[in-house]
Amino acid sequence: MTSDNSFLWGSATSAFQIEGSSQEAERGPSIWDAFCDIPGNIADGQTGQQTCDHVRRFRDDITLMKSLNLQAYRFSVSWPRVIPEGVGRINADGLDFYDRLVDELVAANIVPCLTLYHWDLPNALQKRLGGWEHPDTAKHFADYSTLIFDRLGDRVKHWFTINEPWCIAFGGYIGGNFAPGVQDRARGFQVGHQLLRAHALTVAAFRNHKHSDGAIGIGLNCDFMFPATDTSADRDAAQRAILDMAGWFGDPVWFGDYPKELRDAYGDILPTYSDEDQRLLKKSIDFIATNYYFSDIVRANPDAGPLAYERITYPDRPRTAMGWPIVPEGLESLLIWLSKRYGELPVYITENGIALPDETVEDGKVHDAERIEYIRTHFDAARRAMDAGVDLRGYFVWSLLDNFEWAHGFTKRFGLVHCDFETQERTIKDSGLWYADWIANGGWDANESPKPCCINTAGECQ
Ligand code: FCB
Repeated sequence: MTSDNSFLWGSATSAFQIEGSSQEAERGPSIWDAFCDIPGNIADGQTGQQTCDHVRRFRDDITLMKSLNLQAYRFSVSWPRVIPEGVGRINADGLDFYDRLVDELVAANIVPCLTLYHWDLPNALQKRLGGWEHPDTAKHFADYSTLIFDRLGDRVKHWFTINEPWCIAFGGYIGGNFAPGVQDRARGFQVGHQLLRAHALTVAAFRNHKHSDGAIGIGLNCDFMFPATDTSADRDAAQRAILDMAGWFGDPVWFGDYPKELRDAYGDILPTYSDEDQRLLKKSIDFIATNYYFSDIVRANPDAGPLAYERITYPDRPRTAMGWPIVPEGLESLLIWLSKRYGELPVYITENGIALPDETVEDGKVHDAERIEYIRTHFDAARRAMDAGVDLRGYFVWSLLDNFEWAHGFTKRFGLVHCDFETQERTIKDSGLWYADWIANGGWDANESPKPCCINTAGECQ
């Protein structure tokens, strides 16, 4: 994203998870508001109505970012705050909020990195059209995005269209644990398809825009998959598992279509693109953006679904409060895999972080040594990928603040900064202080070289 090859150390958030003020300033309801209203959907029965109250406290939050020495801040715009019904009437107060946020970030010398969609679809579009399943939603998204380019494109040069389309399609429509809570694979594929069309239309609009002097990409999440054994059956199965996640969205935005392995396995339930869609999709990213949290082990199993692979969780790794195994070398392998497959583009780690249990403030401090260890070992892994040739340009720790963690509500804390959701008091955790020092000292340059790892570039243990 940066034109001068400089590296950005940052942190990330998303609108629904931190903003609050859900009914103020005329924000329209999103599909996540509707999802939270259904008992049983959110672990603690909570909602995004207040969360970190960021809309009112954004200036203080920028002061916090300054104390963390952040060079960049990745945030998302809430589509229903800007266009309450998804189309039509623009909410001037909502748009003004983002205008002020960007102004203050620039004034604080923090590079604004803007995600256009982080899961909070205007509920009016869900009710009226059936949301992302309807092809018109993609067009409405491109129109909304153009409004944001018009208003903020003079100052924002770092853009992401959609955060984690895999989670939207899989979580929202196949697993059903995310809004809107459907469980139907064919519908999930249709949603994924329309999300990719929305991305392509938006990138085309961006590249024709007067403020096109920036860079744009899509935020892909991918767990890395290590083969269970060195047999070719398990190695191929691991590759299929990666394609099933990263390739489902990565291949279309680079090659213009889904991986052949997915087409062969899923057949007709995977939709097809028109020639025009393919033309717009091909090379529709200027960089690779990836979110990484953990990895799994994969075994070939002819009885395990159309792609004949089975995911097994690491039996012996420490786990985060999310239950995710801690596998830093998976980040190294993922970065190398993505970079090799997608044209050796510049790469950004747009999310990486850890939720820990029982984080409490004592004497104005939060001692989270495990978070420091998680971040440090993942920095090392990223550095090894750079040494192997990956053109890494930035690292965004998830998250700036403890926040509303989707279906987990407020039960999982990912922040570098602790948030007391009753009083809204913020406390910089030890990890935040450590990260501030890391950035002030120049990151890797001033710190010891990364420890060697046993993983080679194919993601195998040597
Ligand atoms: C990612 C999401 C982000 C946050 C982290 C923990 O999948 O993009 O909003 O919930 O997981």
